[in-house]
Amino acid sequence: MKLIVTGGAGFIGSAFVRMLLSRSDAPSVTVLDKLTYAGNLENLEPVAKMPGFGFVRGDIADLDAVNQLVASVQPDAIVHFAAESHVDRSIESPGAFFDTNLRGTFTLLEAARRHKVPRFVHVSTDEVYGSIDEPHDADEEYPLHTSSPYSASKAGSDLLVKSYFHTFQVPALITRASNNYGPYQFPEKLIPLMISNALEGKELPIYGDGMQIRDWLYVDDHCRGIEAVLRKGREGEIYNIGGNCSLPNREVVDRIIAQTGASRDQIKYVKDRPGHDRRYALTTEKLMRETGWEPQMDFDRGLAETVNWYRNNRAWIDRVRSGEYQRFYDQNYAGRGVAS
Ligand code: NAD
Ligand code: DAU
Repeated sequence: MKLIVTGGAGFIGSAFVRMLLSRSDAPSVTVLDKLTYAGNLENLEPVAKMPGFGFVRGDIADLDAVNQLVASVQPDAIVHFAAESHVDRSIESPGAFFDTNLRGTFTLLEAARRHKVPRFVHVSTDEVYGSIDEPHDADEEYPLHTSSPYSASKAGSDLLVKSYFHTFQVPALITRASNNYGPYQFPEKLIPLMISNALEGKELPIYGDGMQIRDWLYVDDHCRGIEAVLRKGREGEIYNIGGNCSLPNREVVDRIIAQTGASRDQIKYVKDRPGHDRRYALTTEKLMRETGWEPQMDFDRGLAETVNWYRNNRAWIDRVRSGEYQRFYDQNYAGRGVAS
């Protein structure tokens, strides 16, 4: 099997590539990645010398470059992870979200259509369902209700994928996963930010009252779910992938404090995220029923592995925190102050 994996230098894409290439029957994998602030070739170092691995630096929104790559690789499938993925950044500066998440997805779909790529897996998010009141959970038919420029751009890309399936018969499938955590996650999202700040004795900035609920999915479970969809999913279908682990943010921070030995005095309640979704919740029954997939990682064990990884990889954190990330970090937190 020959795959093109977009965004394969990011957090989840690199975990997917490492998972596939660590096997004896590894497929050939060509990663297409622009290497934005979130893309890091170090994430691919464990597999960089494997015979089936290739890397191309490029923008998924560049149609000529994408066409050229697809024509030369002639992949059996494109697995599309590349995106601008951080909600706070989409609030600060939405433009890149539409360039990459909408135009980039459109460009890949055009290339898939033109070169008759046999399978196209679009990696999306439960964030497209928006905030869901208890006791409801979103299944794949749940209406889209987007709150942030990020989720709007992802919902738009999902609709584009569906349109290319219905109109041009591009054999596409969509996955919608809940919040991922694990090693190699850029320390701007809740769990890696809290772990690295906890280990460094810094503040732990909780937005609003910290009672927002997310469903936590270990990154390797997510990657196995995407592989299950790639191999066994039905074309034109959407598959939710959840971790079956709903927790309020406060509880997540408490568990990080317990595992890192940080102090509760480090917690700081800061001004809330504008348009902040209160609760994400989804059902994963369809994926389980059709493919046999289920999440395997218990949250406390996954968190312990993640904490250990960040403890042992301080140099990685220092390197990704330099430059552009530092500027964003300062801007995002400087204006927040303490919540009233
Ligand atoms: P990430 O931000 O860690 O990585 C994104 C990758 O895409 C980076 O390597 C970056 O360089 C690359 N990229 C960005 N713009 C590009 C462009 N124009 N051309 C080529 N490459 C580009 O993201 P992630 O957390 O690994 O998320 C991967 C995918 O999974 C995204 O589509 C995201 O929407 C989706 N998702 C993420 C989560 C989560 O909790 N992180 C949950 C559900 C779904
Ligand atoms: O649900 C899937 C989505 O999960 C993915 O599609 C996104 O790519 C991914 O970034 C994530 O989005 P969230 O907005 O849920 O993740 P984030 O880690 O930014 O925030 C998780 C929760 O923690 C959210 O309620 C906001 C809160 N938070 C976040 C940060 C960074 C804080 O309280 N303090 C913080 O410093």
